[in-house]
Amino acid sequence: MPSTASSNQNPPSTTALRERRAPVTAAKKAVTGDFDFVVVANRLPVDRVTAEDGSAEWRRSPGGLVTALAPVMASADGAWVGWHGATDEKLEEFNEDGMHLVPVQLSQEDVELYYEGFSNSTLWPLYHDVIMPPEFHRTWWDRYREINIRFAESAAASASKGATVWVQDYQLQLVPRLLRAMRPDLKIGFFNHIPFPPMEIFAQLPWRHRVLEGILGADLIGFQRQSDANNFLRCVRRYLGFTVKSQRIHVPDEDGSPRRIARAEAHPISIDSALIAQLAEDPAVLERSREIRADLGDPDVILLGVDRLDYTKGIRHRIKAFGELLADRELSVGQATLVQVASPSREHVGHYITLREDVEGSVGRINGEYDTMSHTAVRYLHHSYPVEEMVALYLAADVMLVTALRDGMNLVAKEYVAAHADKRGTLVLSEFAGAADQLRHAVLVNPHDIDGLKESIMEAIRMPEQESARRMRIMRRQVTTNDVARWSRDFLESLSRTDEED
Ligand code: G6P
Repeated sequence: MPSTASSNQNPPSTTALRERRAPVTAAKKAVTGDFDFVVVANRLPVDRVTAEDGSAEWRRSPGGLVTALAPVMASADGAWVGWHGATDEKLEEFNEDGMHLVPVQLSQEDVELYYEGFSNSTLWPLYHDVIMPPEFHRTWWDRYREINIRFAESAAASASKGATVWVQDYQLQLVPRLLRAMRPDLKIGFFNHIPFPPMEIFAQLPWRHRVLEGILGADLIGFQRQSDANNFLRCVRRYLGFTVKSQRIHVPDEDGSPRRIARAEAHPISIDSALIAQLAEDPAVLERSREIRADLGDPDVILLGVDRLDYTKGIRHRIKAFGELLADRELSVGQATLVQVASPSREHVGHYITLREDVEGSVGRINGEYDTMSHTAVRYLHHSYPVEEMVALYLAADVMLVTALRDGMNLVAKEYVAAHADKRGTLVLSEFAGAADQLRHAVLVNPHDIDGLKESIMEAIRMPEQESARRMRIMRRQVTTNDVARWSRDFLESLSRTDEED
């Protein structure tokens, strides 16, 4: 998800922040061990930004997870345990935006081994169909375990008796089991935001048993797609030999005696559809979208890609297809422009450095070949933007290109749909993105098939207005009904049912 532009600025000094923070004693319930609902995620839901006067402040991070959980946090005495994004900096717990935040400290070496290493150079590529080869290093694994213990301890210290703890994503797969050992009274949920790989790929992981056992500490394990849940259940059966009946796993005690049931279910995440739809009607946003079109020289067709600069997103495939359409004279500069927003991401990880060089090289080649004095072929923006600017871009775009090679969900696809109350615009969507399960009326593509992708782009450009409006209407109904608030409500309701049923 895009984040605010200002989050890329250098962090202000800790002293400045301490001065501006509300003292912990002013918290509604500042004593640890007192929170009825605890979210544990690698990142805190706030970014540190520098205000115009140079002072430091926190701003709520953009993105679905925070939007969904902020109201739950406020109504349920919630705390959020996570890393604040800077290295070697100890921060005390603080309150911000109605949430109680519990920072977890990471050293520079922790970030290299646990975050850039095991999380993003082992698990991330492994779970995304090994698009890039994962690296397996024992030192990375050791630190991943240590940091998972640190997060689990922090959550255990924050949760009240019988509290609900919701652990998020692949960086923290060992936390559910660690937490259960520390605090058997807790109700524990886990949600995997990224794909869970097929057994034949997961098999490569040298610590596969430990990871499965770690996740199984949860009472309810949520996945984006049913196929992810099925992959997980197959791995549990094969590697742990536990009994699995439909979606229920019998997790035995250490001595093998029957103990408890964990469940694995699909709970596709969504967006704050109402917010996006509301911004799409805002006169300032509408004006900005007209301005964007004019700034691009008012081409007939604006194609748009919006991604974190990540090799899973299929940005190279998309640019290649567009470049070939120009070469084939199916499209021409002036008539069509591709706007590619690529927000900076994981910039110290090797594959991301290479990807940036590749993408920028091909954009440069295409623009060098086809640009005119007045128009550009590809307008490439290596930035993050606030949500208002994103919605203006969605409104300006005739065709949205989501060509991920593998993606847990892809919320950009859902945001594009939510923005188009005007029923304009066509979505080209990879069948390898989780969103394809819900947005069946998009033009679905296999991004590896460059000829097929080119045909689909042309189909989207040429689609009769009535047909694209019909498809957009159906997709909007899906996205507005199933918003992110419903996602968190459904998950938490299902989690609360575990006791009675099991
Ligand atoms: C994906 C992951 C999230 C992660 C986000 C941004 O959406 O599922 O857990 O926070 O990417 O990546 P970053 O490494 O910057 O946190």
